[in-house]
Amino acid sequence: MFQINEHYQALPGSYLFSTIAAKVAAYTNANPDKQVIRLGIGDVTQPIAPAVIEALHQAVDEMADASTFHGYAPDLGYAFLRSAIVQNDYRPRGCEIREDEIFISDGAKSDSGNIQEIFDTRCKVAVTDPVYPVYIDANAMAGRCGTYDTVTQTWSNVIYMPCVRENGFVPDFPKEEPDLIYLCIPNNPTGTTITKAQLQGWVDYANKIGAVILYDAAYESYITEPDVPHSIYECEGARTCAIEIRSFSKNAGFTGLRLGFTVVPKDLVCGTVSLHAMWARRHGTKYNGAPYIIQRAGEAVYTEEGKAQLQEQVAYYMRNAGLIKKGLQDAGYEVFGGVNAPYIWMKTPGTMGSWEFFDDLLERAQVVGTPGAGFGPSGEGYFRLTAFGSYENTAAALQRIRAL
Ligand code: MLT
Repeated sequence: MFQINEHYQALPGSYLFSTIAAKVAAYTNANPDKQVIRLGIGDVTQPIAPAVIEALHQAVDEMADASTFHGYAPDLGYAFLRSAIVQNDYRPRGCEIREDEIFISDGAKSDSGNIQEIFDTRCKVAVTDPVYPVYIDANAMAGRCGTYDTVTQTWSNVIYMPCVRENGFVPDFPKEEPDLIYLCIPNNPTGTTITKAQLQGWVDYANKIGAVILYDAAYESYITEPDVPHSIYECEGARTCAIEIRSFSKNAGFTGLRLGFTVVPKDLVCGTVSLHAMWARRHGTKYNGAPYIIQRAGEAVYTEEGKAQLQEQVAYYMRNAGLIKKGLQDAGYEVFGGVNAPYIWMKTPGTMGSWEFFDDLLERAQVVGTPGAGFGPSGEGYFRLTAFGSYENTAAALQRIRAL
């Protein structure tokens, strides 16, 4: 008789965004005449930029001709894309990252969920709280999180580093020493960030205690302030303690195309074992590469035309962020984020719980957001709105919220 992976059974409920989608579906089925505005999941709404569309068309045509057809992609991804990444994302920022340290993938979600596989199951994981649920759930599936307490909504074997209004959403170094530290900067869900000096502190700390930082930089293109790091490799010493994960979803609208990459520097070792070699082994065994046409689309993101068009797209979403932030502030809400990230993190009114606020907003304003508690216990009493809607829907949602 077969046995199942018991760690899956320890997982609470369903994936956060699946739970929300089910709740919204139930509401729309019961109220077919109501126009629901979705500012919940951070999914983009603007079409793919013209320069990228052109590259996609060209790549599709290449696939129709035997002389230009492409089958399996190279293990790490095509050199043309890895080279564009180094030339644009790393070299101009003084980061010493080489093409063969970049692994192209189908997105940051898969990489941030899968990367834990190369670490021992006894490794102690530290996460900021609230946190993107994938980091914890993936470790729980691997049996690294202990048991889940439904009352405190925490795992017994995870170090939680609260990021709340009181500490300016900047995590403190934990009392207990972690082995793996997940940092997402600019942060999902709070939309807040830390300075380069603060990140340098984390790099120094990780090097000192022998921990690895798993750094999710999916939102770096939304940074508007000068002192915020775009990459952890801007910090001295990061090559010996950090893995960086990037996405094309938020900067270029690839949520439906799927493309991302992970950087594993060759200086990152455990004794004599190279983490780069381990991830290469894992990648080569379990993954056959992002499609050629999508990697060509990714290359177009870095052309002059592509960069200009995408800068406009990011500005479009940040205009939404500004609108939400100011509108909520004017209505008397306490609001955070939205300056270096496309997320606005608001306090729920009075003592209202975040799921209660979710239900109330859906019921009375037909606006969908994400309850802070869904991201961890320190998210209770907060609520997330995304700036990825259309401008019209964003303005309409705000009007409805303000009229409550
Ligand atoms: C979010 O809403 O937090 C993100 O869209 C999730 C993701 O990027 O996977």
